[in-house]
Amino acid sequence: MSEEEGRTYKALLCERLGDPQEQLGRPHSALRVARLPAPPLTHPNSVRIRVAAAALNFADALQLQGQYQEKPKLPFVPGSECSGTVVEVGRDVRTLKVGDKVCAVTQGGAFGEEAVARENLVVKLPPNCDVEAAAGLPVAYGTAYLALRDRADLRPGQTILVLGAAGGVGLAAVQLAKCMGARVIAVARGFNKMQALREAGVDEVIDMQHHKPEQLKGLLRHSAPQGVDVVFDPVGGALLSESLKCVRWGARILIIGFASGSIPKLPANILLVKNLAVHGIYWGSYQQHNPRVFRKSLEEVARLFGSGEVAVSVSHRFSLEQAPEAFSIMLNRQVIGKILLLPQPRSML
Ligand SMILES: NC(=O)c1ccc[n+]([C@@H]2O[C@H](COP(=O)([O-])OP(=O)(O)OC[C@H]3O[C@@H](n4cnc5c(N)ncnc54)[C@H](OP(=O)(O)O)[C@@H]3O)[C@@H](O)[C@H]2O)c1
Repeated sequence: MSEEEGRTYKALLCERLGDPQEQLGRPHSALRVARLPAPPLTHPNSVRIRVAAAALNFADALQLQGQYQEKPKLPFVPGSECSGTVVEVGRDVRTLKVGDKVCAVTQGGAFGEEAVARENLVVKLPPNCDVEAAAGLPVAYGTAYLALRDRADLRPGQTILVLGAAGGVGLAAVQLAKCMGARVIAVARGFNKMQALREAGVDEVIDMQHHKPEQLKGLLRHSAPQGVDVVFDPVGGALLSESLKCVRWGARILIIGFASGSIPKLPANILLVKNLAVHGIYWGSYQQHNPRVFRKSLEEVARLFGSGEVAVSVSHRFSLEQAPEAFSIMLNRQVIGKILLLPQPRSML
């Protein structure tokens, strides 16, 4: 047996679908911490990363419960993004070398001490940036960048309404929209989120804690009397339906996700009368259908991160063993920005 074949690493393992908030190893738990054989390089174009941090996504929680569009074969190590140091490169890798600090999209497997990713899904981080926080960059910022730049064509001076604005992808959209010169109206719930959004530089905050979705139009009466140019929606449900009453002629609606658990039906008459463009955005699918645009979104967000124009707001940090707590915070709407899982002591990095 070679040294590589005998080596093991620690990771979160999903052997059966279940509740990711349930304590590890309990009957209804989806997860346990396991020692597994080190993941092989899957392709001559792949690299092995020693993981500094992996970031949680809402999609991970859905996937562990069998409710996500991508359903990996059991057992699997979940996790779709991480940051860390390249420790091995495949023979055809040209742009990365051992020792590079990177963040990456992993197509599963990020919640462990090591992860393997294809070269085209890995970006080198600029020097002196926060490698740990960069774990939360690819999915949220890549999605928001592609949606705002390539689909909505957001312009300086235009007004954007961001729903679920303090969540991972929402806060990314807020920061990127400000970078693009837009006026940002942020919708979220609760005092702490309002404060974080003001600190992120939004122009108006709307706290829905004590309001019904039907009140959204009234709440926007003064801040956007003519209606908004773009709606960015990771929430779905009644809030999206109500936001259609708050847009101006020719607005763009960006459908990002359904964190509320409810998929609304959009009234075609309003789309027609207001000449609205509705964009469904599935960032991950660009890997296959438009890899150039996908790659550009990754490189651009890494550049903006390196120059300090965007900063990943880290809501909480947990060990792999604390994953149920991490998922509970996310599913109970307590996240501001991104939650990180740190698979190994910092002294090892
Ligand atoms: N299309 C894509 O390519 C893509 C990429 C990334 C994410 N997404 C999707 O976008 C959505 C948000 O992802 P995320 O990572 O930003 O999640 P997140 O950090 O948990 O944020 C979700 C936000 O939605 C709001 N929300 C409303 N109802 C909720 C409920 N019942 N449960 C939980 N949150 C609720 C919460 O804000 P308030 O409490 O302030 O209302 C929360 O801040 C998910 O559906 C995800 O799958 C899609």
